[in-house]
Amino acid sequence: MFRIGIVGTGAIGKEIARAIDSGIVPAKLEAIWDRDEEEAKSFAATLKSKPKVLPLKELVEESNFVVEAASQAAVKEVGIAALGAGRSVMIMSVGALADKELLERLRSLAKNCHCSIYVPSGAVCGLDGVKSASIARIDTVTITTRKPREGLRGAPFIVKNNIDIDKITEPTTIYTGPASVAIKEFPANVNVAASLSLVGIGFDRTIVNVVVDPTIKRNIHEIEVKGEFGELKTHVENVPSGFNPKTSYLAALSAIATLKQVCEPLKIGT
Ligand SMILES: NC(=O)c1ccc[n+]([C@@H]2O[C@H](COP(=O)([O-])OP(=O)(O)OC[C@H]3O[C@@H](n4cnc5c(N)ncnc54)[C@H](O)[C@@H]3O)[C@@H](O)[C@H]2O)c1
Repeated sequence: MFRIGIVGTGAIGKEIARAIDSGIVPAKLEAIWDRDEEEAKSFAATLKSKPKVLPLKELVEESNFVVEAASQAAVKEVGIAALGAGRSVMIMSVGALADKELLERLRSLAKNCHCSIYVPSGAVCGLDGVKSASIARIDTVTITTRKPREGLRGAPFIVKNNIDIDKITEPTTIYTGPASVAIKEFPANVNVAASLSLVGIGFDRTIVNVVVDPTIKRNIHEIEVKGEFGELKTHVENVPSGFNPKTSYLAALSAIATLKQVCEPLKIGT
């Protein structure tokens, strides 16, 4: 039986916790942790399974699978603590893995401790196809992310360049460039670009367009890939999470589906 510990009980962490609590994921919700401990305690009290609220070290000791759903900054601490203790992890703040040194450190910890690092597809569709295509030659990968103003407000790129997001009245591309840069400039927004880079041709060759679109209510991600296999295009219109407008609901569902796959014997999809 998987005994899951979740670090970060915001929009995604809560959805995952509820899915385990209600039996959608066949596992036990052992413990949760959030830097806002009081909020984590009151959330734990709403769940049937009444998970313990434990700081990272204790959470890792009590669980046998750890979910990071906190922040890019938390990935290092959570990944090292969990993998070092032989626990597999699922990482939601995928942008952190653009740090090659950290990625290699986590990879070798996982290898030495015989455990795994899971990265869900998140709010995009088509990673299965890109993963297959990457076995042969891929020439180009582009992801265009369109979000309403609220989904991009406060991003470092917007603040640094004094972009007055409220004055944008029509769809406007504010960034075009490599995923390696986009991940730092839009840390809460382009985890999807990170997953795509990891599965495809890397952070430097994956091109990201970020569009502020005041005419839409959904977060839209479009992927285009060309290579030896042919061409692939995907388009997904995401309903934002009711708890965090920067996060798409599908990202939480994708995390739940990944956990379900980890816990079940039948694994479908590339
Ligand atoms: N992979 C994807 O497709 C995808 C999609 C959306 C969001 N994300 C990422 O997943 C993460 C969670 O997203 P969310 O929408 O739930 O965010 P959120 O802001 O709603 O919740 C994050 C929670 O983590 C807590 N937290 C932050 N740092 C912590 C730490 N070091 N230790 C303990 N708790 C900590 C915060 O207090 C907060 O409650 C974010 O990093 C986000 O960028 C990934």
